[in-house]
Amino acid sequence: MPDPRLSNIKACVFDAYGTLFDVFSVADGVRAAIGDDADRVTALWRQKQLEYTWLRSLMKAHIDFWQVTRDALDFSLSTVGNDDSALRDSLLDLYLTLDTYPEVSGMLAALRDNGIPRAILSNGAPPMLDAAVRSAGIADLLDEVISVEDVGIYKPHSSVYQIAVDRLKCQPAQICFMSSNAWDVAGAANFGFTVVWINRFGQVPERLPGKPVEELNSLEALPSLLGL
Ligand code: LAC
Repeated sequence: MPDPRLSNIKACVFDAYGTLFDVFSVADGVRAAIGDDADRVTALWRQKQLEYTWLRSLMKAHIDFWQVTRDALDFSLSTVGNDDSALRDSLLDLYLTLDTYPEVSGMLAALRDNGIPRAILSNGAPPMLDAAVRSAGIADLLDEVISVEDVGIYKPHSSVYQIAVDRLKCQPAQICFMSSNAWDVAGAANFGFTVVWINRFGQVPERLPGKPVEELNSLEALPSLLGL
């Protein structure tokens, strides 16, 4: 039996970076290139990448997520005194081959085997999402890979979540949305999705509108939560 709050779900939609793909899997590549500053650069890279999406959306100055990710890395390397643009470009390529978390393909296969449509809804630009999905071998497990580039603004703008409603032809509450990013959880729940927070890092909830119906520490238990 599914959790009653999840009994009317018609499709599962996943955030990509941090939820399906481990953005910190770049750490080994960064360490091999720059040594001791790697952890600082890796953490700052992700933090700046997200900040730039929010700030550019507020400024109405959109550029795609590949360029945002490059700018964030550029800032992070420069912060530790490294201005090697060739190194920056080679580290940026790590984003095309990110690891998925270990439970991801089994979980997607379980949803597929039970007839639940599966999509990504991500800030990522289509070419970088396609590369990561192909590199991880999960392309056949997904029905749709949806990018914010369709609307030219970043999460948590409501027009981003609306793309999934339009593409999947569901009511917002019929979409079960999973994200590890607590601010994305808030944005999606505030929009009207039924949200499961994949709280991989044991964070406390955001003080924002929009609450998840459930919290898991990985995606492994999602099929059983849906009663599959
Ligand atoms: C994404 C970012 C938020 O994939 O991780 O949309």
